Amino acid sequence: MEKYGVNELRKMFLEFFESKGHLAMKSFSLIPHNDKSLLLINSGMAPLKPYFTGAEIPPRRRVTTCQKCIRTGDIENVGKTARHGTFFEMLGNFSFGDYFKHEAIAWSWEFLTQVVGLDPNRLYPSIYQDDDEAFDIWNKEIGIPADRIFRFGKEDNFWEHGAGPCGPCSEIYYDRGEKYGCGKPGCTVGCECDRYMEVWNNVFTQFEGDGKGGYTELAQKNIDTGMGLERLAVVMQDVDSVFDIDTMKAIRDKVCEMSGKKYQVDALDDVSIRLITDHIRSATFMISDGIMPSNEGRGYVLRRIIRRAARHGRMLGIDGIFMAKLAATVINESKDGYPELEEKKDFIFKVLSQEEEKFGKTIDQGLSILSDMEKQMEADGVKVLSGENAFKLYDTYGCLLYTSPSPRDI
Ligand code: SER
Repeated sequence: MEKYGVNELRKMFLEFFESKGHLAMKSFSLIPHNDKSLLLINSGMAPLKPYFTGAEIPPRRRVTTCQKCIRTGDIENVGKTARHGTFFEMLGNFSFGDYFKHEAIAWSWEFLTQVVGLDPNRLYPSIYQDDDEAFDIWNKEIGIPADRIFRFGKEDNFWEHGAGPCGPCSEIYYDRGEKYGCGKPGCTVGCECDRYMEVWNNVFTQFEGDGKGGYTELAQKNIDTGMGLERLAVVMQDVDSVFDIDTMKAIRDKVCEMSGKKYQVDALDDVSIRLITDHIRSATFMISDGIMPSNEGRGYVLRRIIRRAARHGRMLGIDGIFMAKLAATVINESKDGYPELEEKKDFIFKVLSQEEEKFGKTIDQGLSILSDMEKQMEADGVKVLSGENAFKLYDTYGCLLYTSPSPRDI
């Protein structure tokens, strides 16, 4: 198997779908346009919603993108596991009332088996439980034996995100082999472990959901596919996690170089190394789209991400502000797909440094207030910091107080 890099895979995907008549569009901004239901763009289809519903006319009925996405729902787990992250790129091919299931399935198979060369015997499709049409396409047209096609329920194979265009889906899983498995009896496609990795999601967008379980048929049938670029790279490069793929490893290595730490020596250091590696990507891309740190909405998400990374930098022993320097590595790794990063680099560095400096001052101020509080406690003969004071230190000065050892939790 060829170990394609992230930048190569992005290009290969877009070129493949261009060869199938798609218009390759630039990634949309992370800031949603005319969509109050989202704080940040979280999937390839999100900026395209009006084209699915027919509210707007797309520039072409076949479009392909590599969309920058942010999902912060699991932010508390970032760093603690090798799976979670806030920033990712989603590859997608879209049909707005043009082709439907036959082509979408055939092309996903062609790309995975012939373009990037994954072994077809390791690929397993899944379908929505009642979708016999998709079953027949996989079985009769692609030639996948019936016992290799998995039927899953709504939870796994029906894609919807709040209100808006949605529909049943057919996913493709890749068997990464026993070394990644849990070894439990019955471990197969759909198991929670790392062996069977979902790489591709073909959504047959045919409904408009009201977000409360009500669906109306859309006048046009659409295709919305999504494939996490980083995940595809994990499979192609046969590495443990997204933190080991080429572009992210470059950032991870830089964090190690700046802190003098080695990855996979100390579990707590690894939490910080992974968290910073992820967060600097989100922060760099958010700033390049014009989001500024603030105390509300998107700006607050950015501020929180920068401050979390800055705090973990301190925990790793990095001296002084470091995020702008690290952003230079992010830009270097991603400017192929996102030339605007290079164009806006001075602005990105400035915003990161200002926020990090401001945070450093706030922390120092917090520590000095803590020392005053400790003096007062001593004078009063009190041994435990009050909840009120602990909250003030956290809320106003960003200081979290730990019992030892620190769980690196925030
Ligand atoms: N919307 C689907 C997803 O995000 C496919 O693009 O997975």
